Amino acid sequence: MTTLSPLRRTGSAARGTGPAARPRVTGRLVFLLCGGIALLAGLDGALLLLGLAAPVDSTRLSAVHGPLMVFGFVGTVVVLERAVAVRRGWAYLAPGLLGAGGLALISPLPVVVGQAALVAGSIMLLAVYAEIWQKQGSVSTAVQVLGALAGLMATIFWLRGIGIPQLAPLLILYLVLTIAGERLELSRISPTVNRRAEGWMLGISLALSFGSVVALVWPVAGYPLLGTGMLALVAWLFRHDIATRMVRSTGLPRYMACCLLAGYGWLVVVGGIWLLQGPVYSGPGYDAMMHAVFLGFVMSMIMAHAPTILPAVLRRPLPYRPVMYLPAALLHVSLLARVLFGDAYGWPVLVQWGGVFNIVAVLLFVAIAVISVVRGTTALPARTVPRGTPKQSGAQSPAAAAQKITGTRPASRGSLL
Ligand code: HEM
Repeated sequence: MTTLSPLRRTGSAARGTGPAARPRVTGRLVFLLCGGIALLAGLDGALLLLGLAAPVDSTRLSAVHGPLMVFGFVGTVVVLERAVAVRRGWAYLAPGLLGAGGLALISPLPVVVGQAALVAGSIMLLAVYAEIWQKQGSVSTAVQVLGALAGLMATIFWLRGIGIPQLAPLLILYLVLTIAGERLELSRISPTVNRRAEGWMLGISLALSFGSVVALVWPVAGYPLLGTGMLALVAWLFRHDIATRMVRSTGLPRYMACCLLAGYGWLVVVGGIWLLQGPVYSGPGYDAMMHAVFLGFVMSMIMAHAPTILPAVLRRPLPYRPVMYLPAALLHVSLLARVLFGDAYGWPVLVQWGGVFNIVAVLLFVAIAVISVVRGTTALPARTVPRGTPKQSGAQSPAAAAQKITGTRPASRGSLL
């Protein structure tokens, strides 16, 4: 769900014409397929965790549901986009190892094989960031490196036998900081994003990272720190992210902005739980915390960025369609039912129904995305520029401004790349 910056998308490799563009699109499809298998297996495990019947009845799938979703599905997809951006063949080892780790987790192999692959994939992700840093060292990259470090720590500690509930802050920061760093990158054209704002983002990310380590050894002190940091991050995102302006636009930018802002709202739930409740390792608060982040925030980010990320990875357009609002709305409404009424008010039946419709929303979005790619047209919506978006030097046309904001490139030549 991260988005390629304009700088990273230039050059022959970005167009897929140079040797660095290897492995080609079919190779990238294999990585996406690994992520897709992890998603389906993770959803199967989710049904079992909800206490419902599932297509495959396997305790292994419910046991590995969390890491499978975080690393095998989201990790593989996000890191694949990073590998495409860095334009080095070896960089594909990162999504490859995460994808293979996910497959190993759901195979009859010992779980430790999958765990070791996830550690190796996380190390390779740091190597990818080292490469990016050399080309384009920036605060946004630094924030993403902090996210990658949290992911690496989580995989190592899980391999060493620490439980997923204790590792929750690290798992959460892995994806939240990765996405926040990328949002900083994309929001640079916002008039409020200056060195001071960047400094705040870096400071908040460092505080969150510090809090996640403290939470491991001294939870009573670590969680309030994490909660404060998370709420500060939400404040930063609402204040500075270009989404607050994009929401006044139409078409793809407005759709993206709606998904982004709804996702930021869910981070308030996590920050609130950490601040007011402290460590939560099981029960309704645990379910609410995990899925406010991973469904409310992360899945919403995936829905927001898919129309700009998938074309960059697959080199096929995924045109925005208004019907994309349907799975996004279903996701947030069903999550509200699950978290607000099911978890908070203690109605397990709403946790189950909410969970089932969470799954329907995710599958519906995947189906719409696949159909859109297969039937894809290349036209951008006619009016895509948010009202009140400041004119940047070099942004010659409304279409160019929209492309900067959404991370897309001109589509008129038959490809978004
Ligand atoms: C799509 C619908 C989903 C449903 C219905 C679902 C359901 C569940 C349930 C019922 C639990 C057990 C909660 C508890 O122990 O109180 C759980 C745990 C968890 N889920 Fe999900 N989940 C979904 C999606 C996701 C996604 C997309 C992610 C991550 C990207 C994720 C990450 C986790 C994690 C990390 C745990 C904790 C696992 C553990 O403690 O071992 N889930 N999920």
